[in-house]
Parts: sequence; C-alpha cells; structure tokens
Amino acid sequence: MMKKAIVIGASSGIGRALAKTLALEDYEVGLVSRRTALLEELQKEITSKTYIKKIDISDVISAKKLLRELIDDMGGADLIVINSGISVTNKDFRAEPELETIAVNVSGFTAMMNVAVNYFLKKGVGHIVGISSIAGIRGAAHAPAYNASKAFVLNYMEGMRQKLSGTEITVTDIRPGFVATPLIEGHEWAFWTVSPEIAVGQICRAIRKKKKVAYVPKRWYFVAQFLKIVPEFLYNRGYNRIFCGKEGGKNGK
Ligand SMILES: NC(=O)c1ccc[n+]([C@@H]2O[C@H](COP(=O)([O-])OP(=O)(O)OC[C@H]3O[C@@H](n4cnc5c(N)ncnc54)[C@H](OP(=O)(O)O)[C@@H]3O)[C@@H](O)[C@H]2O)c1
Repeated sequence: MMKKAIVIGASSGIGRALAKTLALEDYEVGLVSRRTALLEELQKEITSKTYIKKIDISDVISAKKLLRELIDDMGGADLIVINSGISVTNKDFRAEPELETIAVNVSGFTAMMNVAVNYFLKKGVGHIVGISSIAGIRGAAHAPAYNASKAFVLNYMEGMRQKLSGTEITVTDIRPGFVATPLIEGHEWAFWTVSPEIAVGQICRAIRKKKKVAYVPKRWYFVAQFLKIVPEFLYNRGYNRIFCGKEGGKNGK
C-alpha cells in the first residue's frame, strides 16, 4: 500500500521540492498552501496521487478543521510535514510584520502540530516533520520575529518529543541554513546557500532515518554548537561583520 504524506506549505521552495521527491518515493501527497494555482501546477508535475487543500495556517480555527478534512479525504496520513513559514525584513519596525510572522510561524505551526499529534495519537503511529531553522539558535536584528519564531518551533518540537516518548510517533526537527527560495530573495549576504533539491535530499534522508534533529546541510550543526556558547558581544561582532556590509548598518538596522 502507498504511504501518505501531507506537505503544509507545498506551493514554493523547500515544500514544493519535498512534495515532488516524496511522490517519487511512492507517497501519495496532500498539497497544502494558500496559493492553490501553484499547487495545481505542481500537481501536474507529480505522477503519484495528489490532493490539494487551500489552508491559511494563520487562521488557526479554520486551518485545524481543514487539515482534519484533508486527512479524512486522503483516507489517513503517515507523515505530516509542517513547512509553511514567512520571514519579513522589517527595517522600519512596524508591528504588522512582526505579528504576521508570529501568526504563521508560531500560532499556525502550533495549530498544525496539534492536529497532527492528536491524529497520530489516535492512530497509534506516525511521523511529524517541522521545519525550524539555524536562525532559531540566536536572535537577529534584520528579522527579530523570524528568529524568535524559529526558536519557538525548535523548542516546541523538543517538548513534543518528550511528551510523545514511549509512543510510536516520531518528531523530526529540520534546521536548514540558507536555501535558495523566495524566502531569502534579496539576501545578498546569505552564504553556503544550497538549492531546494539538495536540501530536500538531506531532509528525506533524515525522514527515512527518523532523526530527531537534522541540520541541512550538516555543516550547520557545527555553527549551531558554536552559536549556542558564544557570548553576546562576540556574536554581535560576527553578526555585524557578516550581515551588515551590504544590507543596512550596525546590527542590520
Ligand atoms: N530558505 C531558507 O533559507 C530557509 C532557511 C531555514 C528555514 N527555512 C524554512 O523553510 C520553510 C519553507 O521556506 P522556503 O524557504 O521554502 O520559503 P518559500 O519558498 O517562501 O515557501 C514558503 C511556503 O510557506 C507557505 N505559507 C506561507 N504563509 C502561509 C500561510 N499563512 N498558510 C499556509 N501556508 C503558508 C507558502 O505558501 P502560500 O504562500 O501559497 O500560502 C509556501 O508554500 C519555512 O518554514 C522557512 O522558515 C527556510
């Protein structure tokens, strides 16, 4: 029997590439996002059975209901990938971009996690994959809400792994570095950038191995260990040197 996966945030970037790869790995795939025209285009490129659901995950009440509906429409799911995310550079520090980031990356993520966990608890087995980021390790001036939201995501997944220990439910936290997608367009300072396809190759390996945490590419693991211990004054110095040359002044402002 074919396995069934849902990719939340499948219209672009990492999610789009992941949906295509999962289909090649014999998954039926549920494609979720707001831009259904893009999902319909993607559907044409996928040979395995696909389902489309328009969900705005920031509208949490409706999003929970719609994800449950999709799981029913598909006759169940084995793997749910919570990939949707936004990053807004907010140089003039308006409230809206900060709150919108929290609505999608924190509230939306939590709502989708809640449906996935409760569904798999009922089923007795399942695999949840959340896409956090290396950005979740430390704060950053150019997008404070983004980094803080990803800190929430990776911390939340650690908590869920504890909560679900002793069950057959796996929670995998994927922590990418820079991946060439619309999310980082205009970020000339990005480095070690990989294509969505390379990232997805490593994400699929982490899924197959049921990893708890995977840095994508792996070299970001060492960066993360360093970032966790480096004192704030040294972190700020490095941050300014790397990120503030081309975009803005001191501390990315
Ligand atoms: N690219 C990077 O360098 C990088 C690095 C680390 C982590 N990440 C993380 O990887 C994930 C995927 O990002 P990406 O780089 O592939 O960016 P992307 O190409 O911009 O894709 C973002 C996806 O999120 C979906 N999305 C955004 N808002 C949504 C909402 N309100 N409801 C439902 N879906 C929503 C988008 O679909 P619609 O707009 O159609 O709804 C789209 O499919 C994100 O969580 C991001 O934070 C990316």
